[in-house]
Amino acid sequence: MTYVELNNGYKMPQLGLGTFKSKDGNEAYEATRYALEIGYTHIDTAQMYGNEASIGQAIKDAKVNRKDIFITTKQKVHSNLKNMEKAFEESLEKLQTDYVDLYLIHWPNHDPKINAQSWAFFESLYESGKAKAIGISNFQKHHVDALLKTAKIKPMIDQVECHPGLTQVPLKAYLDQESIQIESYGPFMKGGVFEGIWKDALELIAKKHDASIAQVVIAWGLYKGIVMIPKSVTPKRIKENFESLKIKLTEEDIKVIDGLNRGVRVYTDPDNSPWGPYVE
Ligand SMILES: NC(=O)c1ccc[n+]([C@@H]2O[C@H](COP(=O)([O-])OP(=O)(O)OC[C@H]3O[C@@H](n4cnc5c(N)ncnc54)[C@H](OP(=O)(O)O)[C@@H]3O)[C@@H](O)[C@H]2O)c1
Repeated sequence: MTYVELNNGYKMPQLGLGTFKSKDGNEAYEATRYALEIGYTHIDTAQMYGNEASIGQAIKDAKVNRKDIFITTKQKVHSNLKNMEKAFEESLEKLQTDYVDLYLIHWPNHDPKINAQSWAFFESLYESGKAKAIGISNFQKHHVDALLKTAKIKPMIDQVECHPGLTQVPLKAYLDQESIQIESYGPFMKGGVFEGIWKDALELIAKKHDASIAQVVIAWGLYKGIVMIPKSVTPKRIKENFESLKIKLTEEDIKVIDGLNRGVRVYTDPDNSPWGPYVE
């Protein structure tokens, strides 16, 4: 496993298992159990995914040392402190743990004051030790700029849509400059990397390395210092994705993949999300 060091010195495994749409119950449980068995040490979930309880149970049954596992979860925006505290405590309970490694604001609110209020709560969790690292997700540069005006603690991570069709050039440069680690979600572009111009180029690179397109995409992110969390509930793919750690792309391969950027967003645009107003 390779690790990134966050701006507070906390170490994060650079590859993890995504779990969006992994169904609560057997599906999320078995995927997590299998992933832990073959060497994953990092699981990404969220309050909104509704599968924290199955993931918590899988981690418990795997009998791994808590300190050897990196758990990320995320909070949707709440209007008041009481509900924010309740959401966090519920996540801990479902995950069967007394701390999370990384806690993220899932989506920015369209009102910067609400983001600042959420962030103050996140800072208090960090100070209490219940979240070893805190961060944001889906924050564009202007959201981060606004947050930094009142933040006492700089976010450690920004988890955003990032893949060969949307390489996030200006946002990544900005986050690098601010020492905020970029984390990719949706690496396979909802299947887009297996089609069209992406397939044509990625397939050539994959053949050269005796790898799959999925592995090349993950290896590309790892090479660029991005945290990658591909999701799968299929054992063969969970293993295949993990094995991308072994693939060593060349500088030339990276240039070709960077050249596939078309600014294609396949997930919700954070500036026009329905999660702007309070969600309860
Ligand atoms: N912060 C946010 O707002 C946000 C938004 C979206 C996602 N995320 C996080 O990022 C993670 C990854 O994103 P994502 O789940 O949206 O998309 P993704 O990882 O790009 O793609 C997952 C899809 O690709 C398939 N797949 C996985 N490995 C494959 C392989 N080796 N070959 C071919 N197909 C493969 C999966 O199928 P099977 O599962 O059927 O194998 C699933 O349909 C999420 O699970 C979640 O943890 C965060």
